[in-house]
Amino acid sequence: MPSYVITGVSRGIGYEFIRQYSNDPNDTVIGLVRDKTATLRKVSEDPDLNGRHNIHIVQADVTDYNALQAAAAETAKITGGSLDYLIANAGLVTTFDAYDPIGTLGDQPEMLTKTLRELFDVNVIGNIHLFNSFLPLILKGQAKKVITISSGLADTVLTNRYDLTSGSLYSTSKAAMNMVVAKYSAQYKKDGVLFLALSPGMVEVGHFKDVTAEQMEAVGGMLAKFVEYAPHFKGPITPEQSVTAMKSVIASASIEKGHGGEFISHLGNKQWL
Ligand SMILES: NC(=O)c1ccc[n+]([C@@H]2O[C@H](COP(=O)([O-])OP(=O)(O)OC[C@H]3O[C@@H](n4cnc5c(N)ncnc54)[C@H](OP(=O)(O)O)[C@@H]3O)[C@@H](O)[C@H]2O)c1
Repeated sequence: MPSYVITGVSRGIGYEFIRQYSNDPNDTVIGLVRDKTATLRKVSEDPDLNGRHNIHIVQADVTDYNALQAAAAETAKITGGSLDYLIANAGLVTTFDAYDPIGTLGDQPEMLTKTLRELFDVNVIGNIHLFNSFLPLILKGQAKKVITISSGLADTVLTNRYDLTSGSLYSTSKAAMNMVVAKYSAQYKKDGVLFLALSPGMVEVGHFKDVTAEQMEAVGGMLAKFVEYAPHFKGPITPEQSVTAMKSVIASASIEKGHGGEFISHLGNKQWL
């Protein structure tokens, strides 16, 4: 009867995580969101999810420390005080750095500073407070797995080999978070807690729906490099495909197999697409 806490389940990959994990009525699935009312409405209007009593929606912005502490207390009441899986999925994906290279972003220094700070607040500091809030529950759980949804764009080898310039600030926040995962692993591996950074692949969640023709050209350039890297790449996968693959990696990953503190993909290795 495993229990899951997943952040950022209002949409995209997070919503698909609650859909798939709640499929088994024996599993307890707790989704953290910023707007509880909106997500409860979405779940109640979803013919698949409506009526699944094992889904719990809890309010918490990951940048609000007190809200995270309250969410952990609420989770303990639902589960009886333990937690098996914590999935840090919530993430800020910025548009400011999505198309222009980092040197060009320097033409707007204030915007650069503001964006990078926001990215660190959500993608790094928020997750550290999330981990600290939920670790007492994880330590009492059976599975003891803490998964962070990272990004292949945080891989320096890939960036260097293909000169990937897009998403420089976002990628920086994800790379920092990969180190946070390694540091938590260094501390808690001896307690049997697996910390893992997991890239979901490139997933269609509507991030490119409002792009201009000029921005699309930059996206096209990145996609061409992706094809060079992975000739089988045909474009983004669906949230369903990504979560199905990640679930399999999450189920099989273990400290014993050497996954503690690692950064791998939905394919279970360093192949990002
Ligand atoms: N899609 C991809 O191709 C891709 C690739 C690599 C990595 N990722 C990572 O996958 C994860 C999920 O992203 P996605 O693709 O599903 O994007 P998304 O559709 O933009 O979803 C992002 C989620 O994070 C939540 N969130 C943002 N800021 C938050 C905050 N301060 N507190 C709590 N929740 C917050 C959002 O909630 P609201 O609805 O309240 O804004 C939303 O539920 C992210 O960590 C992202 O970096 C995605």
